[in-house]
Amino acid sequence: MPPTTGPDHPKNLKMVVPADTQKLCTLCHERMTGRPLQQRQIVVADHAGTQQCTVCHNPHSPRLGLVAATSTAQAGDAAAGKVKAAECAGCHGADGVSNNLPGPTLANQNAGYVIDALKAYNSGARNDPMMSAAAKMSDEDAANLAAHFAEMKCENALTADKQATLPGHATAAKCTACHGANGKSSNPSWPNLIGQSKTYLVNALKHYGSGARKNAIMAGIVKGLSDSEIENVAAYYAAATCK
Ligand code: HEC
Ligand code: HEC
Ligand code: HEC
Ligand code: HEC
Repeated sequence: MPPTTGPDHPKNLKMVVPADTQKLCTLCHERMTGRPLQQRQIVVADHAGTQQCTVCHNPHSPRLGLVAATSTAQAGDAAAGKVKAAECAGCHGADGVSNNLPGPTLANQNAGYVIDALKAYNSGARNDPMMSAAAKMSDEDAANLAAHFAEMKCENALTADKQATLPGHATAAKCTACHGANGKSSNPSWPNLIGQSKTYLVNALKHYGSGARKNAIMAGIVKGLSDSEIENVAAYYAAATCK
C-alpha cells in the first residue's frame, strides 16, 4: 500500500500525502520545454501510465532504493536452515541451483525476499500448487531457510561485454534500478533474477501482467512490455547463470 501519512512532525502532527500524487509530483517532474534539466523530468504517460507515483517511489525520499524496504526479515540460523533445506532439494536443487527442476534457483537469493515469498505462499497471497504445501512452516523455519540460501553461492557467469550484445539489453535498462545490472538486487526485499531459467522468468512476468501473481510495481512494469520484450529480457537475465 502506498503511504497515506508521513513521519511525525512536532506535536505529533502527521503530514498527509495527497491521494493524487500524480498531480503533486508532476508539478515539478513532468517534462516541458524550459524546465531546468537538473529537475529530472519524465513523460508521464510513458513512465507511469495511470498509476500513482507512490506505487514505486517513496514520497518522502523518492529515490527507488528506499521504496518497499519493508521486509520483516530477522537474521535466521543458516545451519538449522541447511537441515530443513533437504525438504526443498528435490525441486530447488541440492546446491540451490535449479537447472531443469520445477522450482526456481534459490542460491544466493536475498533473504528478505525469500522470507516474504514463503509467507506469501503460506498465507495464500501467492499461489502455487507445489509451494503452497511446501511453505507451511513457522516464521522461524522460514528465516533459517532464507539465511541458508542467502549464503549459497551463485556467481554471475556473464560479462558486461556479453550482456551488451543480447537483444534484451535495452529492455533490461528498465529493470536495473531495482534488480541490479547483473540481476543482483541491492534491496534485500527484492529478488535477484540471476540464475533463473528463461521459462521461469517469462512465466513470472506474464503472471504479474495477468494478475495471477500480485505486485503493484511489477504489474506496472509489465504493462509497458510487449511479448517480444518479455522474451528478450527473460533471455537476458537467464544468460546470467550461476557458475
Ligand atoms: C516542488 C518541486 C518538487 C515536487 C513537488 C516533487 N519533486 Fe521530486 N525532485 C525535485 C527536485 C528539485 C529534485 C532533485 C533533487 C536533487 O537532485 O537533490 C527531485 C528529485 C526527485 C527524484 C530523484 C531523481 C534522481 O534521479 O535522483 C525522484 C525519483 C523524484 N524527485 C520523484 C518525486 C515524486 C514521486 C514526487 C511526488 C511524491 C516528487 N518528486 C515531488 C522537485 C520536486
Ligand atoms: C511502475 C513504477 C514507477 C511509477 C508508477 C513511477 N515511477 Fe518514476 N521511476 C521508476 C523507476 C524504476 C525509475 C528509475 C529509472 C532509471 O533509473 O532509469 C524512476 C525514475 C524517476 C525519475 C528520475 C528520472 C531521471 O531522469 O533520472 C523521476 C523524476 C520520476 N521517476 C518521477 C515519477 C513521477 C512524477 C511519477 C508519477 C507520475 C512516477 N515517477 C511514477 C518507476 C516508477
Ligand atoms: C514439489 C516441488 C517443490 C518443493 C518441495 C519446494 N518448492 Fe519452492 N518452488 C517450487 C515451484 C514450482 C516454485 C515456483 C512457483 C511460482 O511460480 O510461484 C517455487 C518457488 C519458491 C520460492 C519463490 C522463489 C522466487 O524466486 O520467487 C521460494 C522462496 C521457495 N520456493 C522456497 C522453497 C523452500 C524453502 C522449500 C523447502 C522447504 C521449497 N521451496 C520446496 C517447487 C517446490
Ligand atoms: C521499481 C522496482 C522494480 C523494477 C524497475 C523492476 N522490478 Fe521486477 N520486481 C520488483 C519487486 C519488488 C519484485 C518482487 C515482487 C513479488 O514479491 O512478487 C519483483 C519481481 C520480479 C520478478 C519475479 C522474480 C522471482 O524470483 O520470482 C521478475 C521475473 C522481475 N521482477 C523482472 C523484472 C524485469 C524484467 C524488469 C524490467 C523490465 C523489472 N522486473 C523491473 C521490483 C522491480
